[in-house]
Amino acid sequence: MAATIISMSGSTTTPLTPLFKTHIPRRISAHPTNPAPPRRLSVSCSSDRVFNFAAGPATLPENVLKKAQSELYVYQNSGMSVMEMSHRGKEFTAIIQKAEADLRELLAVPENYSVLFLQGGATTQFAAIPLNICAPDDSADFIVTGSWGDKAYKEASKYCKPNLIWSGKSEKYTKIPAFGELKQNVGAKYLHICANETIHGVEFKDYPEVGNEGGVLVADMSSNFCSKKVDVSKFGIIYAGAQKNVGPSGVTIVIIRKDLIGKAQGSTPVMLDYKIHDENNSLYNTPPCYGIYMCGLVFEDLLAQGGLGEVEKKNVKKAGILYDAIDGSKGFYRCPVEKSVRSLMNVPFTLEKSELEAEFIKEAAKEKMVQLKGHRSVGGMRASIYNAMPLAGVEKLVAFMKDFQARHG
Ligand SMILES: Cc1ncc(COP(=O)(O)O)c(C=O)c1O
Repeated sequence: MAATIISMSGSTTTPLTPLFKTHIPRRISAHPTNPAPPRRLSVSCSSDRVFNFAAGPATLPENVLKKAQSELYVYQNSGMSVMEMSHRGKEFTAIIQKAEADLRELLAVPENYSVLFLQGGATTQFAAIPLNICAPDDSADFIVTGSWGDKAYKEASKYCKPNLIWSGKSEKYTKIPAFGELKQNVGAKYLHICANETIHGVEFKDYPEVGNEGGVLVADMSSNFCSKKVDVSKFGIIYAGAQKNVGPSGVTIVIIRKDLIGKAQGSTPVMLDYKIHDENNSLYNTPPCYGIYMCGLVFEDLLAQGGLGEVEKKNVKKAGILYDAIDGSKGFYRCPVEKSVRSLMNVPFTLEKSELEAEFIKEAAKEKMVQLKGHRSVGGMRASIYNAMPLAGVEKLVAFMKDFQARHG
């Protein structure tokens, strides 16, 4: 059913795709003396939504989307949408400050760390990190447990001298090394890990100590950011694209120990220099305002759930149900990742009869479970079950998997 939007002039415009069974009680007219009759934005409801198992951009909490919908047209008393307001005005200043304060509370970010809201995706950080904390001849160590770590390693080679101290490639990225086996290089400025490899479903459950005095641990947490408690003080830098667990694409969050700021290579573009963003509270240029607002709503929601300890419990439960179904299928389904390092967020699995995979994905989509196809580089299936995937979504997937096996096993 199409939504009718009433414009400022009272004329109707092309409908937005409606998301929810919600009507907006407010009159949508710019002419109080000649108000248009209140109309319902047309309706659709949560039952119109699918369970979206995409790896990112990914599903967002329904209550967050509804809150954003209710504030989309006019934000609080501002008379305008967040998308229209100055990033230096009092409303947006309050939005970004609250987003930062809530994120600090969620992760118990120590005082001596800055929180930056940036752009360019996590991919930009692959370059920004060496540019900011290394001279061109400095070395950095990389543990590569999947495709994203590998990309970070390759990009770093343009700006410093990275060493690949461990790679899981020969074992198809299904493992994490024993930290005792690692040979870190003397003088390496940082040790880089990808805390959760989104494509391969491999997640660090604990973190290596950095061997060098002066070196720091740097983690790409794009796909498990805010999915569990993390001791931020173990890291020099944590970075994450928002579009998996905490918001829409377009926002990249960097949490950085303050003493690492201010040492960028001379050629560092201004937009990649942490000092510039830190000094300007992430407002050096126009930030991704609406995305930051959305992240703020997600942080509020995570706090309302009881914080990351509670969120983690839910994630452990969801992932447990899914891995149990895979492991209990007598080989019909298979997850290649070593059990102790299986991701709570991204669950890759294959079918013993690989010729049935396309059918599996097609039938699941008919049941409103979408985006289950594995990454093109690995094939098979992948269920991304980020914070916002409800338990009901995982239970439905598991019930479907059992039924599919009963019919095709
Ligand atoms: C772990 C990880 N790192 C980095 C990236 C790249 O992020 P972006 O697309 O935001 O640059 C992704 C994207 O999926 C990812 O999953």
